[in-house]
Amino acid sequence: MEPAIETNSSKHDQTETEFGKNKKRYQDLIATFPHEKGWRPKAPLIEYGGHWFIQLLLEGSLHAQEFFQARPIDFLVCSYPKTGTTWLKALTSAIANRSRFDDSSNPLLKRNPHELVPFIEMEFPFFPDIDVLKDKGNTLFATHLPHGLLPESISKSGCKMVYIWRDPKDTFISMWTFFQKQKVDNGPLNSLEESFDMFCRGLSGYGPYLDHVLSYWKAYQENPNQILFLKYETMKSDPFPHVKKLAEFMGYGITAVEEKEGVIEKVVSLCSFETLKNLEPNIGEKDREDRPCIYKTSAYFRKGNVGDWQNYLTPEMVARIDGLMEEKFKGTGLLEFGK
Ligand code: A3P
Repeated sequence: MEPAIETNSSKHDQTETEFGKNKKRYQDLIATFPHEKGWRPKAPLIEYGGHWFIQLLLEGSLHAQEFFQARPIDFLVCSYPKTGTTWLKALTSAIANRSRFDDSSNPLLKRNPHELVPFIEMEFPFFPDIDVLKDKGNTLFATHLPHGLLPESISKSGCKMVYIWRDPKDTFISMWTFFQKQKVDNGPLNSLEESFDMFCRGLSGYGPYLDHVLSYWKAYQENPNQILFLKYETMKSDPFPHVKKLAEFMGYGITAVEEKEGVIEKVVSLCSFETLKNLEPNIGEKDREDRPCIYKTSAYFRKGNVGDWQNYLTPEMVARIDGLMEEKFKGTGLLEFGK
């Protein structure tokens, strides 16, 4: 995964932050880990804990592991990149804040969902001064880290989390097309065929993707009270029961009165792809307001469809990736999940 961070002007180069004080130590450690060619010439992949990272995100992940202090009241949005993170950030924010704002003052109308729910391995290390991190009342955080690499404070605190996964074919296409929208020059992006081959071999940011999904699936089976497990496709086909369940799980259950007032419908509608994509903070050439980023806010909203892979992948590619998923998930219950 290439970081959604403007590397040449970000806080991570300044020594006064907690991250700055520890950066050299992380870099020395990372230099000892296996390195592989990445999806772009200037973004090699580095192995840590059985997963692959690009340098900056691995530095941020090590920092999160060491310093992020989860509280029991916190709630974590967990996902592999391009599987529905933005959607879940919007939903969790809309659910948790619904009594604080009315239809015209909701922060989603003014800010991109990523500004409202910070990543523990991106904003937390590199931009500790942004408003949402200074606001101790904020309880929503996000991560792309696999379950096994979450900071220890998360399991110790017992805070709850939601995980979303998606058909690997759409995840791959969403990722490959997203990378094309980067504003910085890290060299040419690998061809679709080469990137696909690497994705299948587990060589992608935070990959192997299927292992990432399995890590949360196993944790969910061991502790279903701590993790809510969702699938992009089933959410798309009928978001209402899932949004209701998510609210309940987060401790912000929809009351009978609210249900009558159509609160679930309002949340679903505000957070829908069509609404968010056309909101003022997410249209055109806008940058997010809180920090520099190598993506325009509109990059997070592409098509929002199920099955766009059909426009890109050959039958051979489909057979390969479907076969890998069958093999990996057979007997785990994941193949049947959400059907
Ligand atoms: P596509 O590239 O297939 O369109 P992430 O948020 O994890 O980066 O995932 C991005 C994917 O989710 C993109 O998929 C994007 O269009 C889609 N997406 C963004 N907001 C969404 C929403 N509110 N509802 C459904 N899908 C959404």
